[in-house]
Amino acid sequence: MKIRSIETLDLRGKRVFIRVDFNVPVKDGVVKNDKRIRSALDTINYALSKNAKVILASHLGRPKGGFEQKYSMMPVGERLKELLKKDIKVADDCIGDGVKKLVADMKEGEVLLLENLRFHKEEEANDENFAKELASLCDVYINDAFGTAHRAHASTEGMAHFVKEKAAGFLMLKEVEHLDRVLLSPEKPFITILGGAKVSDKISVITNLMKKVDTFIIGGAMAYTFLKAQGYKMGKSLVEDDRLDVAKEILDNARKSGAEILLPEDHIVAKDENSEPVATSSVNIEDDMIGYDIGPKTIRKFSDALKKAKTIFFNGPSGLFENPKFANGTFEIVKAVAELKGVVSVAGGGDTVTAIESLKLEGKFTHISTGGGASLEFMEGKELPGIKILEE
Ligand code: 3PG
Repeated sequence: MKIRSIETLDLRGKRVFIRVDFNVPVKDGVVKNDKRIRSALDTINYALSKNAKVILASHLGRPKGGFEQKYSMMPVGERLKELLKKDIKVADDCIGDGVKKLVADMKEGEVLLLENLRFHKEEEANDENFAKELASLCDVYINDAFGTAHRAHASTEGMAHFVKEKAAGFLMLKEVEHLDRVLLSPEKPFITILGGAKVSDKISVITNLMKKVDTFIIGGAMAYTFLKAQGYKMGKSLVEDDRLDVAKEILDNARKSGAEILLPEDHIVAKDENSEPVATSSVNIEDDMIGYDIGPKTIRKFSDALKKAKTIFFNGPSGLFENPKFANGTFEIVKAVAELKGVVSVAGGGDTVTAIESLKLEGKFTHISTGGGASLEFMEGKELPGIKILEE
């Protein structure tokens, strides 16, 4: 798929609406992780360098459809000012007369950040009138919000129908380029590392990658469902009993298509999250125990397997990473990938990225996606509405 680049459009002096994904963690009015804001700077600065009037819009969190202080874009505006080293205006809404006036008064090279799009329920409903209102604010529409590209909302899809000139920003282009490379032409061996709680979240990605991947490395609680499907005892661990058949089918299909599936050989278990962790001696977990992380043998097995890889896609932690007692497996797998030389490594998903960032190993990965759900749906082979609308 070929999407139009921002560089093909003439932005000079125009009102350029950039849909960004500034859905960032905010606590006590302060942005806690500004990666998504920093990732949009290339596009914003490019538009400014062309003397455009830059209108930025994003959602933040999941408000119920009306104003909620904790989801206001104000703190994002503060951080953006610092990063751009430039004063910007922050509107108190994203549509309406006040916003129209602010836009009408804009001078070339100015930046206006609109208030949270989701303060209007019409945004998520992809309401046509709302989309037209947004579209009326601009001459050019740029979508740089890869993280929200899997949503067909008014600002990510709907409004693009009502703006003649539209294109992708640099972040969107970079995300698509890296994910396409892994999905369409991975250098072999191609290893996909999956984790997280549920098999059900990852069935589509496994199915789509089955014929392309040489090895799946599966950790996290989703591994327990696969292991139980093979007849192992998983104690009180999180198992999706209603997905045991699906897990068996995946294992069968992998055998048929020659994809290897590596599962844990040992675990870190405890009676509950607050109890002392212990390592199991085998795959089985005792009746009163819960599996929370992969064990040392598994870490070695997974790390050795990774040494063969030329391409890696990494989505999902290997254990209950939010609890430091059970974060070791995830950290060790992150380190194993980071140590590899000459490999294309692409990571996505909130927990995976948090683990990489907390070890300060971002620089050791070829690409870290700003999209969790979006990168997963991309790898599932789904058409993302926010990207489709930009196709040439
Ligand atoms: C994300 O953080 O994954 C995106 O910003 C999308 O947010 P949503 O899941 O609330 O639509």
